[in-house]
Amino acid sequence: MKIIGTGSALPEQVVTNEELTKFLDTSDEWIVSHTGIQERRILKEGTVAGLAIEAAQRAMEAAGVAAEDIDLILCSNVVSDFVTPALGCFIAGGIGYGGQTLDVNGACTGFIKALDIADSYFAAGKAKRILVVAAEKPTYLADWTDRATCVLFGDGAGAVVLERTKESGCLATHLATQFNADFLNMPTPPTNCPFTQNKGREGYMYMNGQEVYRFAVSSCVKDLTLVAKKAGLALSEIDWFLLHQANQRILNAAQMRLKQPGEKFPGNIGRLGNTSSACIPILLDEMTRDGRLKEGQIVAFSAFGAGLTHGAAILRI
Ligand code: UT7
Repeated sequence: MKIIGTGSALPEQVVTNEELTKFLDTSDEWIVSHTGIQERRILKEGTVAGLAIEAAQRAMEAAGVAAEDIDLILCSNVVSDFVTPALGCFIAGGIGYGGQTLDVNGACTGFIKALDIADSYFAAGKAKRILVVAAEKPTYLADWTDRATCVLFGDGAGAVVLERTKESGCLATHLATQFNADFLNMPTPPTNCPFTQNKGREGYMYMNGQEVYRFAVSSCVKDLTLVAKKAGLALSEIDWFLLHQANQRILNAAQMRLKQPGEKFPGNIGRLGNTSSACIPILLDEMTRDGRLKEGQIVAFSAFGAGLTHGAAILRI
């Protein structure tokens, strides 16, 4: 498979660290030094579906394809505007598509999971072109009284159009789960069903930042080393490492452990914060549009998130 078009969409509203100090006991200095984040985008009026459709349309325009050229929409999303219908259905409606949609709730690893599924669809001969969209609003889940969590997140959407090729550009993938629901979770909303004892709980995202940090660095390094080996590549042969944008310190630690130059680890966390599974496709779109990504280059992706899920992939662009 090959990426033939990329797109992204961001909410208009920019929220700086300084704005957060108006209601949180925090500071720009703490947030920047502990995370690298300066500002983030937060969905104020629009919908997640609106962002997802915009990103999808941009990717389709870049690829020069119409809705009827697509055989599958793969959507990565944790929370959208509705519990049901799934976000993929809204994207279908927005672009005028009537085929199969498949939604993946893989937390921040969702985009890499979707790439892996797409590769299998191509290998099985079930699709010629697949639209992958990752759209997220983690700011909706965060507890805005918890200064260690809410400052990290931002909203956004990224998309790619993939096309089947004779020789797949997907050189290797690795996806895994180390089940642990204690370090990062979000309970389901409460029910008023009189027969249900466990009524769910009013609640927000809970995160044990230090545990997730430790898991993130080690899984990222292990997964990237493993996919490089699977692909028969030395890490030095990889042109770019596009990692989940969770914390600049996590990116730096992974880079040091992999012993690769910092220039190979591009990022947008300073401007956008952690946009969950949308981080990687947004970055991919930025790098395609500004010309950093060039045909033939080898790109490694790595992500981790609630589950705890983690994984990596290597693609020839
Ligand atoms: O998509 C995956 C999702 N999550 C992640 O990847 C998160 C991974 N973890 C992290 O990025 C980091 O652990 C955090 C950024 C969440 C926290 O950074 P840390 O260096 O691990 O800080 P800490 O939790 O050890 O807290 C150090 C201090 C604490 O104060 P005391 O107890 O030492 O007095 C915190 O209360 O920093 C305090 N603190 C803050 N202070 C100002 C925590 N958050 C803030 C804040 N502003 N926003």
